[in-house]
Amino acid sequence: MSVRLIYVAGKGGVGKSVCSASTALWTSGKGLETLAFSMDPAHSLSDILEVSIGKQPTKIGEKLYAFEPDIQEESRQFYQRYRHMLTALFGLFELEVKPEDFGHFPGLSDFIFMDKLYDIFTSGKFDVVVIDSAPTAMVLPLLNLPSVTTGFITRVMGMKSKWMGMLNVLESGFGDAILGEIRSLRVKSETMRNALLDKKTSTITVVTIPEKAAVLESQRLIDTVESHGVYVSSIIINHVMEGCDCDYCRRKKASQVSYIDDLKSRYASKRVAILPDYGGEVKGPSLSQVADDLYGKGQLVI
Ligand SMILES: Nc1ncnc2c1ncn2[C@@H]1O[C@H](COP(=O)(O)OP(=O)(O)OP(=O)(O)O)[C@@H](O)[C@H]1O
Ligand SMILES: [Mg+2]
Repeated sequence: MSVRLIYVAGKGGVGKSVCSASTALWTSGKGLETLAFSMDPAHSLSDILEVSIGKQPTKIGEKLYAFEPDIQEESRQFYQRYRHMLTALFGLFELEVKPEDFGHFPGLSDFIFMDKLYDIFTSGKFDVVVIDSAPTAMVLPLLNLPSVTTGFITRVMGMKSKWMGMLNVLESGFGDAILGEIRSLRVKSETMRNALLDKKTSTITVVTIPEKAAVLESQRLIDTVESHGVYVSSIIINHVMEGCDCDYCRRKKASQVSYIDDLKSRYASKRVAILPDYGGEVKGPSLSQVADDLYGKGQLVI
């Protein structure tokens, strides 16, 4: 079986990590080798799953692994893989950067996470990789990376005639090594983009809450992602009020209903799942309740 990517996106604080962790619990419970992969530099999977997660994919249950890449460690590895390209890039701007600090450069952390995701995607170790993303999707940088690398290649090729001979004199094979690294990065970013574009490989789930700002941001996110050809197949409306009939809850429920109805009619062709507000933090053992509400009750399918 080929690997499935389940990408969980959405605005800050809406419940992406809770939904990612619960999804991973569900798929591993169904016998699928699953990795919960945090793409948010401010990791929270370990807090939510209540386990410690290492800097490598860590086994945390039957068929269940989790991974919170350490950006400094990954920067160092990334530097090793692409040292000619990065030396040339930073050399052009006369910047001195430590290998472990590359990840803090705008845009570079996207490459570092993508490179890691590519390794995982092609490792053949997992049936399902659930990606817990940073607030308001890194899907977009992932989609744009191939054109960024193309731009970079064009520049380097433009410089090739002037530069490469000179670089090769400084260190034999240096110029060709730069080109090889850029090509490799491009192949990887294209592979990951194509994986996201392929409905059979990827499921994009947007988590939102029934409030004006969140609903509007989700609509923008869905429009933008879909304008790149990536289909958002499911939406989770989280923190939906149930039960209690006190004045406060009744007013809150009434305002939520209009946003829920609006989302359901606007996205009639997608799966729209409702997740109740559980009245307290959701972590550890309570995640299986969330998994059951989402998947056990058939609101979402894997
Ligand atoms: N249905 C729910 N009922 C009650 N609490 C919830 C529910 N869903 C999430 N929470 C709580 O809301 C908080 C934020 O959830 P979570 O960390 O999953 O959001 P997030 O979208 O990943 O946030 P960030 O954008 O910061 O990564 C957590 O404390 C979590 O326990
Ligand atoms: Mg999160």
